[in-house]
Amino acid sequence: MKRRIDTLLVHASELVTPAPELDGPARGAQLDRLTVVPDGALAVDAGRVVAIGTTAELLDRFDADDVVDANHRLVSPAFVDPHTHLLHGGSRHDEWQGKVLERAVPGIDAGIRTTIAATRAATDAELTERALADLDEALAHGTTVLEAKTGYGLSPEAEIRLLGLTRSLAHPVHVPATYLGAHTVPAEYLERRAEYVQSVLDTLPGIAATADFCDIACDPVSFTVEESRRIAERARDLGLALKFHADQTGDVGGTQLAVEFGAVSVDHLDEASDAALKALAASETVGVVFPGANFHLLDMTASLLPDGRPPKDLAAWADRVLRSGAALALSTDYNPGTAPSLSMQMVMQLAARLYRWSYAQVWHMATLNAAAALGLQDTRGSLAPGKSADFVVWSVRGHGEVVHRFGTNLADRVYAGGRLVAAAGRRLPGTGAATPPSPAL
Ligand code: NIG
Ligand code: FE
Repeated sequence: MKRRIDTLLVHASELVTPAPELDGPARGAQLDRLTVVPDGALAVDAGRVVAIGTTAELLDRFDADDVVDANHRLVSPAFVDPHTHLLHGGSRHDEWQGKVLERAVPGIDAGIRTTIAATRAATDAELTERALADLDEALAHGTTVLEAKTGYGLSPEAEIRLLGLTRSLAHPVHVPATYLGAHTVPAEYLERRAEYVQSVLDTLPGIAATADFCDIACDPVSFTVEESRRIAERARDLGLALKFHADQTGDVGGTQLAVEFGAVSVDHLDEASDAALKALAASETVGVVFPGANFHLLDMTASLLPDGRPPKDLAAWADRVLRSGAALALSTDYNPGTAPSLSMQMVMQLAARLYRWSYAQVWHMATLNAAAALGLQDTRGSLAPGKSADFVVWSVRGHGEVVHRFGTNLADRVYAGGRLVAAAGRRLPGTGAATPPSPAL
């Protein structure tokens, strides 16, 4: 007797996924073992994955209301983008030309302050409209979960406003919300840092029930370890899960601090020491890295600082990070200055080229490991039975092809919770809000 289900997707040239039995992020040799099913099929019911297998196997086991033909094209889990600065005003393209091409303007923190001014000046409607358009673009490129940070308000009222606007986004992309009041010290507090840290501490109780995470930037251009520790302690006491921006422009010990606090993720790691990477590898914290930012800054992150360090050897850095054994995820770091791209396809393509990471490694890091960087490894990031049926039917046949090609959108059809939500580069009309298959998702 065949089981009746909603949807059976058949005839994928390859059905590719991190191994369904992996219940945490892939590390080390696990990163090489993608599950690839030729002439693959996917059974979906009530918005969740029921089974994967060959087309012949699943046609034997299931009777579906809707049989969808993948037409001998690649099918994969949808991407999870675990670190973005979604809500912002303005664009910093002028600054990029001066800063990166002409090396005239110092400091990432100066750039952040430019975006703070543009974000504060934008109306709620402008910010929301832009965020929804950006979510449409991310979705059409294959992303169904996208974390969004505040951090361009940097006054209690402005940060609470950004968090509220993030929460009110009605879109098929699932958007975990992160409070990043500790992004950098805003201009008006430069001479009064302690007062700004105090205002972040004072804001935390009011946002603890609204935010999914508290992020702290522990970096030479942002907060010291001591300042970050005070914020982390208060956030932890309030039950907030932690994320960190750490050691992007210099090694200040942010990575170790994140590990010490059991952060869900620690992001950037560009200047993290060997000792920091060792501590990370021995922990459950996921390291998130950003080839798009490295690419866009022409790998001059550190050399933009007054001490003028030379650009680092990215491939050597990436090899060191990977060989540490840490759990690693990829993300866009989408923001209007240092990483203006929403494409996780591009992120995988850049990781392969700049970091010399393999097809299997980058696919793991953009799906299951990226879900783990948001604590969502039980519900997203692979085509495992019980997980939300978030998947992409590609315009190409092989998972390696998505990494090997670059510069165009290769996602053809995108499904979230078993529902077709984007096709041919556009979100479909009438797919406003996420409809999770159950309250648990
Ligand atoms: O890359 N320390 C923070 N760095 C941010 C920069 C964001 C921006 O330039 O606006 C980051 O996440
Ligand atoms: Fe960031």
